[in-house]
Amino acid sequence: MMRITLDSEACQGHGRCYTLAPDLFDSDDEGYAVLKVDGEVPAGMEEQARLAADNCPEFAITVED
Ligand code: F3S
Repeated sequence: MMRITLDSEACQGHGRCYTLAPDLFDSDDEGYAVLKVDGEVPAGMEEQARLAADNCPEFAITVED
C-alpha cells in the first residue's frame, strides 16, 4: 500500500498536484492543495500520486511504498 502526505506549510499553491492528480488533490479557495484521501493511496491511483509528488516545485508531497 502506497502512502501519500502533503506538507501544507510547504505548499505555495502552484496547482500542479490537483491538475495532474485530480482524484487525490483538490484546491482550497486560495489555490492551496487539499489531500482528498486519508494517507493511503487507493488502488490504481499510484501513478497520479507519483506524478504529483514529482511535479510539486516545493517538494510538499511525499509518497512512500
Ligand atoms: Fe501546493 Fe505543490 Fe500542489 S505547491 S498546490 S502541493 S503542486
